[in-house]
Amino acid sequence: MIARLAPSILSADFARLGEAVQAVERGGADLLHLDVMDGHFVPNLTIGPAVVQAVRRVTQLPLDVHLMVAEPDRFLDAFAGAGATTIAVHVEALPHLHRTVTAIRRLGCRAAVALNPSTPVEALAELAGEVDAVLVMSVNPGFGGQTFIPSSESKIKRVGDLLDRVGHRADIEVDGGVDGTNIDRVIAAGATIVVAGAAIFASGDPEAATRALVARLHAPAASREP
Ligand code: DX5
Ligand code: ZN
Repeated sequence: MIARLAPSILSADFARLGEAVQAVERGGADLLHLDVMDGHFVPNLTIGPAVVQAVRRVTQLPLDVHLMVAEPDRFLDAFAGAGATTIAVHVEALPHLHRTVTAIRRLGCRAAVALNPSTPVEALAELAGEVDAVLVMSVNPGFGGQTFIPSSESKIKRVGDLLDRVGHRADIEVDGGVDGTNIDRVIAAGATIVVAGAAIFASGDPEAATRALVARLHAPAASREP
């Protein structure tokens, strides 16, 4: 299966967000990653449901909404109503993760569960068979343009091993610091969705940067850099 590309709009020019979204769509993006931050769960404050709703109006791409917020249960209805396709919540923010995943599904959205770099894969052991995606954070969440944490590569593989053990094919989404220098290794490790923010929107030509990363995802495995 060919992995999919999810540009993260966090690094886009918010004064021209519609144009940025259309540029990556022209470049072949498969979905759009929208980072919601509350200044509590992570040390940054970004967008809310109104921006998701605005983006929903300018693209047909699936919207992958990443909630980096302290109390995600409070916002599920709002983001589902704004047009989210997938809602990703953090293991670290939820005492009742199974209930939250069930609630996301009941709203008609795909449920993704995110793991911060220091959170072990085993934190998902009881739920791995019931999620639509596992979001492996390959940076400490809060900002775009950070450096990929090398140990994430083995963590991606271990998430794949866990999903194999429970016999459930959920997406493995990798989020943070992915660019042309490491995307081949991220795919080889088992990622099925790759998030890229600065590699696209800090490139000067988001459409071309998207096209180049999509080409790497579609390249034959043998041609990828080890
Ligand atoms: C970080 C966010 C990521 C980030 C990815 O907290 O969850 O989605 O925007 O951007 P890059 O690819 O620039 O690390
Ligand atoms: Zn994200």
